[in-house]
Amino acid sequence: MIVTNNRPLKIKGKLQIQLASAEIVTKEGTTGFCRCGVSENKPFCDESHRKIEWIG
Ligand code: FES
Repeated sequence: MIVTNNRPLKIKGKLQIQLASAEIVTKEGTTGFCRCGVSENKPFCDESHRKIEWIG
């Protein structure tokens, strides 16, 4: 897991994520999880943090 200021939480490896809808999504490589709250594809980062003055 990688935590960087003003960026999403990044986790490396093969992941299975159960979404709020109960759908299970598989991700490989590096997956970014939204920390800013603005992503339209939560829980994943969609780079929207670049459009706001978010400090986190
Ligand atoms: S951290 Fe990237 S969209 Fe929220």
